[in-house]
Amino acid sequence: MKFFMVVSALFITLFGHALAQFDYCFGKDTERSQTRQFTTKTAYQIIKGTNIDKQYLVPHCLPQKIWIFHRHGTRLPSRSIIEKASRLEELRDAIVKNYRVLRTAPSTNALCQEDLIALQMWKWNSSITPDMEEYLTSQGYEDLRGTARHYQKLYPNVLIKEYNNTYYLFRHTDSQRTTESFKAFTDSLFGMHNDAVAEKIPEEDKLLRPYDYCEPWAANNNDDENSEVNKYKRSVLWNDTLMEISTRLGFQYTLESKDVELMYDICRYEQAWQVDRTSVWCGAFTPPQVTVFEYAEDLKYYYKFGYGSDINAHLNCRIVQNMIEHLGSNALPNVQVSFAHSAGLQTLMSALGINKDDRPLTANNYQSMSERKWKTSNIDPFAGNFVAVKYECNNAPLEKEKVIFFLNQNAVDLDWCHVGLCNWSEVVQRYEHIINADCDSYYCPGVGALSAKPISIAVTLLMSAIIYLINLI
Ligand SMILES: *[C@@H]1O[C@H](CO)[C@@H](O)[C@H](O)[C@H]1NC(C)=O
Ligand SMILES: *[C@@H]1O[C@H](CO)[C@@H](O)[C@H](O)[C@H]1NC(C)=O
Ligand SMILES: *[C@@H]1O[C@H](CO)[C@@H](O)[C@H](O)[C@H]1NC(C)=O
Ligand SMILES: *[C@@H]1O[C@H](CO)[C@@H](O)[C@H](O)[C@H]1NC(C)=O
Repeated sequence: MKFFMVVSALFITLFGHALAQFDYCFGKDTERSQTRQFTTKTAYQIIKGTNIDKQYLVPHCLPQKIWIFHRHGTRLPSRSIIEKASRLEELRDAIVKNYRVLRTAPSTNALCQEDLIALQMWKWNSSITPDMEEYLTSQGYEDLRGTARHYQKLYPNVLIKEYNNTYYLFRHTDSQRTTESFKAFTDSLFGMHNDAVAEKIPEEDKLLRPYDYCEPWAANNNDDENSEVNKYKRSVLWNDTLMEISTRLGFQYTLESKDVELMYDICRYEQAWQVDRTSVWCGAFTPPQVTVFEYAEDLKYYYKFGYGSDINAHLNCRIVQNMIEHLGSNALPNVQVSFAHSAGLQTLMSALGINKDDRPLTANNYQSMSERKWKTSNIDPFAGNFVAVKYECNNAPLEKEKVIFFLNQNAVDLDWCHVGLCNWSEVVQRYEHIINADCDSYYCPGVGALSAKPISIAVTLLMSAIIYLINLI
């Protein structure tokens, strides 16, 4: 049976070629540039900066202190996706049937034989069960071992190999994936049998998960029909993309958005789990289609965690104060590392004014925002990390204290710093509004302070009262 499949696969490959020479073929694409656009499911290895070796070394400056905010590494999907494994198998069978039985493959722009055969042989990894939702994968451990190894190599005098609990301070949220990320990171720093411990997780973790304790924030979700992402998902561009994808997969009708998004999700996950392999499902999408999907995700996150809503920049009041305090003090600990989530990393960027565009992302400006700074693939891949390094410089009599911020191993280019190197006094001044804030009230301002909602509710009430009165008359 297996032999037969291989032979028929070979035959089809040879035969199919002559017919479909110009079709996009993921399996044969050596660049696979679209895998850099998988937003929060992007693999760390393909997005991380590679210039940091040059950037971290500052002449006449010695690194003193480090502060890191680290998203967990590559993880399994949520339960709701794992439970759709059987739907993916149905889609696989339907696509194969379209090509092999119904012969409804498009005459141009079809799946290449290589991608089709890979899809035909695809199976859900049955050891991934719903009770393992969002667990760190083996690649996820590797992600964190990798960043620890890398930063320790660059800053051996700060990230020293000997652990003690006054020099190092670690924190993680209450989840398997962040706990295991902490372990992978510390195993890599100190060796396998170390006694590194993390801070006790508070009952209400307002430091690492402030968004869980802010109702106005939670109410401001993207599920609203009029959210930019939902408007985008009703646009001609989106509908045409779904139609193109469906046609390419041999369907005579347009697949439902949720089915296409499921294929897109599993493509991104599988690609991140095994970076060197090609995820079968990614073959269902051409690079331009991936770009359309990337924008939907960026829009969603822009309003949920980014500059799209003012409240997002407030949430991380405590962790920003924690960073400034840490870097500004000469006391131990010298190293603080926190392991948390996407929401934390993206809202931290919003608080610090990093990757901020001049114009907002909206449902209508996909084209003109193609060079946007808010690309979550670059900001928040799996194992995304923000590193602040404090330097003492002896050639600058006025400003001895400097800081460089790194995001995923690229120096952050803030316009008030000099090629990434910032004066400490300037850092303190720029973030004064947070440093001086009373976080208890600042981190989660009431709806009234930030949005027009209460006013519009009042107006609506007034209007209905008037209409009621008019009707009475
Ligand atoms: C299936 O998933 C399990 C759990 O994540 C993993 O350990 C295993 O390597 C996977 N198998 C394959 C063939 O990818
Ligand atoms: C921990 O290490 C630091 C730096 O080597 C040292 O100054 C400090 O005294 C150590 N603390 C303990 C409790 O060993
Ligand atoms: C796109 O498709 C959706 C769902 O089928 C539909 O509600 C919407 O009106 C379509 N948008 C346009 C611009 O045709
Ligand atoms: C840092 O401070 C020094 C001394 O005040 C000043 O000359 C320099 O321009 C500042 N650098 C930046 C990037 O602001």
